[in-house]
Parts: sequence; C-alpha cells; structure tokens
Amino acid sequence: MEQSRDGIVILDQTGQVIESSQRFADMIGHSLDSMTRLKVFDWENFFPPEQLLEMINRVNEKGDHFETTHLRSDGSTYDVEITTNAAWFDGQKHIFCICRDITERKQIEAEKENLQAQLIQAQKIESVGRLAGGVAHDFNNMLGIILGRLEFAMEKVHKNDSVHVDLKEIETAAKRSADITNQLLAFARKQPVSPRQLDLNDTVENMLNLMGRLIGEDIDLIWKPDGSLWSLKMDPSQIDQILANLCVNARDAITGVGSLTIETGKHSFDEKFCSEHPGFIPGDFVRLTISDTGCGMDKNTLDNIFEPFFTTKGVGHGTGLGLSTVYGIVKQNKGFIHVHSEPGQGTCFNIYLPRFKGQNKTSPTMTGEKAEKMV
Ligand SMILES: Nc1ncnc2c1ncn2[C@@H]1O[C@H](COP(=O)(O)OP(=O)(O)O)[C@@H](O)[C@H]1O
Ligand SMILES: [Mg+2]
Repeated sequence: MEQSRDGIVILDQTGQVIESSQRFADMIGHSLDSMTRLKVFDWENFFPPEQLLEMINRVNEKGDHFETTHLRSDGSTYDVEITTNAAWFDGQKHIFCICRDITERKQIEAEKENLQAQLIQAQKIESVGRLAGGVAHDFNNMLGIILGRLEFAMEKVHKNDSVHVDLKEIETAAKRSADITNQLLAFARKQPVSPRQLDLNDTVENMLNLMGRLIGEDIDLIWKPDGSLWSLKMDPSQIDQILANLCVNARDAITGVGSLTIETGKHSFDEKFCSEHPGFIPGDFVRLTISDTGCGMDKNTLDNIFEPFFTTKGVGHGTGLGLSTVYGIVKQNKGFIHVHSEPGQGTCFNIYLPRFKGQNKTSPTMTGEKAEKMV
C-alpha cells in the first residue's frame, strides 16, 4: 500500500474508512491518524451518498472502474480515476479503492481538444476562403468586362434615352456585385495591398467622422487612444475596412441608445503567456479594440462569426461578409483577433496587429496621458 504512487483506501460496507495509505491521506489533505474517522462521503464530490452506497453494494471481486472528483480538506477539488475491488474477511465485505489523481491528464486532454477544435476551425475557414477567393477572382474579372462594356454602351446612348436608365441600373448592380467580390477577395487575402508605415491613432482619427455618421446620433462614439503607440506596417485602407465593418455590426447590435468605444493599446506576449492563452501569438502587438453595448452573442453565434456568409440578420440585411473580411485582413497582416461577448452583455473585438520594428520615419503624433474623447 505504501509503495504505490496511487492513493489506496479500504472501506467497509457503510463507506467508513478501515485503512488508508499515507498517499491517499495526502491527496485529500487529511492526516493519516484522522482517516479512520472519515467516510467516503467526506471526500467524494460527484456521486451523491445513496448512489455511493449502491456502488459499494454492487462492487464484487471483478471490480469496478470510474472517474469522479474528490474534495480536499481545504475545499479544492481534483479529478480522480478509481479502481475498486471487493474482498471478504470474517464475512465482512471490504472495498479496496485505488485512487489515481488525473488532474494533469485531464488538463492535457482538454488542451488537446481545444487545439484540435481550433485547428479544424482554421482549416475550415482556410478551405472556404480558397473556394470563395477562387470564385471571386474569376467573377471579378468578368465584372470588369461587364463594367467596361457598360461604359462603352452608355457613351453610345443619349442620357434621356430609356435604354440609358436601364444601363444605369445594370451599372449599379454590377458595382454592388464588385463590392461583394472585393470583400470575398479580402477574406481570401487576395486583395492587392500597399502596406506602409502608419500610426494607428492617426488612421482611426481620420475615420472618426465617417464612423460617427455610420452609427447615427443615438450611439455615442468614444475614442480612447493610447498616447505612445507603436507603428504598424499595413495598408491604411484595410484599417478603414476593419473599422467600417465593426462599426456597422455594432450599430446593428444596438437597439435604441448605446455606445461604441474604440481603443488602442500595445502589448507584448511571451511564449508562456501564449501557451496558456490559446489563439495568442508571441511578440509585440498594437491593439485595436472596438466594443459596443449591443445585444451580444451566444456561444453558437460566436463560433461561426468569421465564416463567410454567416449571418443572423434577415435576408437583405446582412451579407455575412463583414467579419470574414476583417478576419482575412488581420490574418494577411499576421495578426489575430480575440472576441468577448455574451448575450445582453455587449461585444468586444480585440484586434492585435504586429508592431512594425523598421526605421521610425515619423515621431509618434500623440504624446502625454491617455486621452478620452467623445465624438
Ligand atoms: N457587435 C456585434 N454584436 C452582436 N453580434 C454581432 C456583432 N458583430 C457581429 N455579430 C454577429 O456576427 C454575424 C456576422 O457578422 P458579419 O460577418 O459582419 O455579417 P452581417 O453583419 O452581414 O450579418 C452577425 O450576423 C451577428 O450575428
Ligand atoms: Mg456586418
């Protein structure tokens, strides 16, 4: 009993301890002397007493095997795997329990499952992206021809001609289609980009007016720039796309009045932090946070938001391409996204973009304390 790495305890038919190994006493946090005063109900944390008694009753020489949790004397719990066997001495049934602490194994299993789920999700998005991107690419080329020919045709008909009105309608639809294919291309990371060194605060500030108009008067726009931000290297129009998509979503999520907060910040993550926080990548990152006081999302919605064409909005209201565009842009720039949301609790999108460590051509435009601004 004392040599075993597992804790061993022997119970009588009422669940009372007859004998315990030192290891088992340590596992549940009691002294060895006090063990014979305990009953199985004192540490068993999953099965109710009636069920435990029934299990004790049922166990025979063939034994039983199950997982459960135990309660330590300090109130904490741990996962444990139990192997039981019954033996009779002097007509009395004795239950031998071998208790293996499987906390670590459980943790590793959970981590593995989590990683597996993340991998499957990433692969899914990757393959849908490839498909969507391929279609969008061909589609875009054809739309180019349609729009080009339209221009020729419109030059040939007089403005007052009724055919001109028809052509104008075709042009509107073709341009709208081009917008959609462009979003798909952004998701598939096939959009041509011209990255340059930029200050995220400046880029956001340039968009604030437009965003204010986008969300309307009932929603307060709050701007909290980090006063000493690091530089980024990316196409500023991509930041605009991210902001526009997230603002429109926040607006749609808010009924009546509410607020939308845009915040910037900087963070460094090390290997250890990232191993404990799935989805995070080691390195220096600039953070762009967009949070709203809207309706929030349930887990099921959250799991799907980055998939192209996923929308909870009615036909004609959502395309389901907003967040997939954001995802594509962030991935293209080697960043990552973290979303918190709960039904009724609003939503917070944290976008992390890698710091640009090249030559600093411009000095930071904002200095001093963190400002808070209402627009
Ligand atoms: N800020 C938000 N608050 C609540 N739900 C959101 C928010 N942003 C996105 N969503 C959910 O994610 C879905 C996908 O968003 P998106 O890709 O932009 O497509 P769309 O806006 O066209 O539906 C939305 O339909 C909505 O259910
Ligand atoms: Mg949207």
